[in-house]
Formats: sequence, C-alpha cells, structure tokens
Amino acid sequence: MKGVVLAGGLGTRLRPLTAVTNKHLLPVYDRPMIYYPIQTLVNAGIIDIMIVTGGNSAGDFLKLLGNGKAFGLKHLNYTYQEGEGGIAEALSLVEHFAAKEPVCVVLGDNIIEGNITVAVRSYRHQGGGAKIILKKVPDPHRFGVPELDGPKVLRIEEKPESPKSEYAVIGIYMYDGDVYDIIRTLEPSGRGELEITDVNNAYIKRDDMSWEELEGWWTDAGTFESLLRASNLVAETGANKIELKHAAEISANV
Ligand code: G1P
Repeated sequence: MKGVVLAGGLGTRLRPLTAVTNKHLLPVYDRPMIYYPIQTLVNAGIIDIMIVTGGNSAGDFLKLLGNGKAFGLKHLNYTYQEGEGGIAEALSLVEHFAAKEPVCVVLGDNIIEGNITVAVRSYRHQGGGAKIILKKVPDPHRFGVPELDGPKVLRIEEKPESPKSEYAVIGIYMYDGDVYDIIRTLEPSGRGELEITDVNNAYIKRDDMSWEELEGWWTDAGTFESLLRASNLVAETGANKIELKHAAEISANV
C-alpha cells in the first residue's frame, strides 16, 4: 500500500498565519504540522509516500523534509496541486504514483494520538473497496458525518446542520485503484471543490465501504481553535511517537 499526504490549499481559515506560508508548515507544539501525518503513515508500515502540496511555499516542503530522513525513510515523492480544487482533486494527482496499488490518504492537518495499524491491516484483508476511520466528537457538524447501521455506512453528509450520528469521518482514508475513475465522475460542490465525501458516498453506493473507530484522540488543525487544541494535546500527551527504530523494520512487521 502506498501513502499520500495532502498538504495543499490556501489555509484561508488561518489567515494571517498562512499569508506567506503553507498551513502544513506551521508549528504544532514541537514539530511542523506535516510531520504528524507522515509519522502516522510510517508507524503503520507505509513507507512509499507522496506529498501533494501547492501554493507559493511548495519548495519549502523539500527544504524541510528532503528524502524523509527524519522519519527513517530513504525517499519521499512530491507533486504539486495548482489552485484550490479540493481534497479529491488533490488525490487525483497521485494516480500515476499509485500505479493501481491501494492508497492510504492522510489530510496534512490531521493529528492522532495513537496509530492506524489495526485499520490498515483490516483494509489489507478487505481485498479492495474503501475504508474510513471514525471518531466520536462533540461537534460533528464541522466534519463529514456518517449515518450508520451497525457495520454498514449508509451515507456521509458533509458539514450537516443536523448530524445523523456523533461521529466525524476523520481525514484518513483507504482506497483501491478505482478511486481515480470515481473522481473523474465528480462535479464541484457548492464551495467549488471536488469533495472527498462524494468519493466516499460513491464507494458506499457500490456497497464497498467499511469503517473502523479510532482509539486515542484525533484533531484537525485548520482553524485557530483546533490548531491551539492540537498543540496542547501534543504537549500534554505526545502524539505519533516513532514506534520502532526504522521505517523498513515497521513495514516488515505489519
Ligand atoms: C475535510 C473533509 C471532512 C472531514 C475533515 C477531517 O473537511 O471534507 O469530511 O471530516 O476534512 O479533517 P475540511 O477540513 O476540508 O473542512
């Protein structure tokens, strides 16, 4: 399985912090924000990773991350998203890199306390389709929200006024090689973007979607409140610590 970190966008909700730099380069306690999603992938044994970035400070990712030495990696891949086409459009840029292999996609502002090893292992046994990861939150209306029927996801609504469950769809997704064909069928939403929620609803329609509940805390970091929360959570409890000495060793053990 290949890994993708989506780190484009204009970060408008964090202006002026993002006036001259990319949101994912901002600090979250003691590390740049993008360190956390990369570590999430590496800790799950996913070491063939592409960073999708965009905007003016795209070159700074190369300066900061290089070939991923800080994570025990030997190589990192990069690609560039022009404009603000949304999460699903950013994902479409990795089609060539993924080369029909399944991908684990992490939004660059999503930070977790623990790891996703269980979800990745169960997706590997699923044999195709998609998997989402859910977390109970006090404010589901800020996120994609699933309507559930036991193990089945009936539908996901993006930022609903009346959420159908207490769960948020967190920004960590697993897809098979069909995802690019699905993205090609999407129309831009009200906010002018190709929505990841529409991708997920397409898999639900095909009856090819599973879900897993995340253990430990999760937060996004795309607003002033959530950025502060993220820093405080990391400072208080730590997050995404390197679990083994070397990425390749983790990969061999998953
Ligand atoms: C995006 C997704 C949303 C998901 C969230 C997780 O929201 O559209 O479904 O719950 O990430 O962080 P955005 O950050 O674009 O508002």
